[in-house]
Amino acid sequence: MAQTNARALRGQLLDFIDDPAEVGAAASHRYHRDGLLVIEDGRIAKASDAQALLSELPPGTPVDEYPDCLIMPGLIDTHIHYPQTQVIASYGAQLLEWLQKYTFVEEEKFGDPAHAAAIARFFLDELLRNGTTTAAVYCTVHPASVEAFFAESERRNTRMIAGKVMMDRAAPAALTDTAERGYRDSKALLQAWHGRGRQLYAISPRFAVTSSEAQLQVAGTLLREHPGAYLQTHLAENHEEIATVRKLFPNAKSYTDVYDRCGLLGPRSIFGHCLHLADEELQRLSDTRSVAAFCPTSNLFIGSGLFDLARLRDPARPVRVSLATDVGGGTSYSMLRTAAEAYKVLQLQGQNLPALDAFYMMTLGNVRALGLEAEIGSLRVGSAADVVVLDPCATPAMAHRMATIGDDLEAILFVLMTLGDDRAVRATYVLGELAYAAP
Ligand code: GUN
Ligand code: ZN
Repeated sequence: MAQTNARALRGQLLDFIDDPAEVGAAASHRYHRDGLLVIEDGRIAKASDAQALLSELPPGTPVDEYPDCLIMPGLIDTHIHYPQTQVIASYGAQLLEWLQKYTFVEEEKFGDPAHAAAIARFFLDELLRNGTTTAAVYCTVHPASVEAFFAESERRNTRMIAGKVMMDRAAPAALTDTAERGYRDSKALLQAWHGRGRQLYAISPRFAVTSSEAQLQVAGTLLREHPGAYLQTHLAENHEEIATVRKLFPNAKSYTDVYDRCGLLGPRSIFGHCLHLADEELQRLSDTRSVAAFCPTSNLFIGSGLFDLARLRDPARPVRVSLATDVGGGTSYSMLRTAAEAYKVLQLQGQNLPALDAFYMMTLGNVRALGLEAEIGSLRVGSAADVVVLDPCATPAMAHRMATIGDDLEAILFVLMTLGDDRAVRATYVLGELAYAAP
């Protein structure tokens, strides 16, 4: 018989089976107050009540005990820039100035493969420290930045989506490619990395300000040639950006139409921000099953605007929505903090974000947005054991608040998302291996 590598985690098991906004709270999730997650060869073998499963566990199987913690599928970030770990917390500018003054300066450094490798290491450490096990990641224009990122992710066995930024104008010469080079370099990277182990490729034209029509067209060609690949870009984040795009593409009906005419919309296309869109643009995003990434800390920090979730979700033309940090425009690697800011952004507009909905978004919701639900995002038997262990009493303020709460799961989750951050992450597992443990 083949030898299996087994271990178990004991604690409060929580995962989602559907969207609480659609099926209601009770039908959306599974919860075992004293649960056992049995992992074999990196996959979930069993997930149920500990009392029932402990007696079946082969003698000698190691059990990691987390009695007062929630054991959940790893958190998912659908839009983040790994070259911006030293851009985060840059003062006083809105989007276009912020890009020129801070972001491009840092991204130029990724021409040096040693720098790219060092930052990729820091970045993946930081994601895992925050309980994020999968992300859709922008690299820089340099192919070596993509090589460095995927090599580091492959070393850790993390399921990551990433791609070379394409930009052929409105940026320093050291950061521009051409339509032709962008196509050739992206295609070579895609062929090398898409589907290699757990790595997946995202065709990544930065946005319509820095990509000519010719370059957006070749991005569309790439997507048609490789329908399993992703497409990620930015859309309608800032008013000055939108006015610039209107001037650059006078024949387009709208900003969304610029991408639409190049064949960039579709179910594997992730559009960061989507703050200032007309109804016809939302209709096209809905028709094509494109995804809008809600990046609350970034939208607040760069002063871009408030994401109108209820409007995007209008049942007449619902747009698929994901949640994301957008570091370094975003101010935290933590999806918990990101959910807390999403809650506040929605409060300002008279909308809600119940805790169950927020945790659904951070896990299965984002996984569905990425089309990866067959492999990750739940504690289903057979899923990859990418798991986060969250401690709702991680800080004195959290423990103090928790003292009033008892067994109310939704209240516990709300404390976690409102007061939690990296300090609430007790451990992170990747394919069943401990990838981070709190000190
Ligand atoms: N639009 C184009 N590039 C970027 C970027 O790096 N960050 C954000 N927030 N918006 C962008
Ligand atoms: Zn971004």
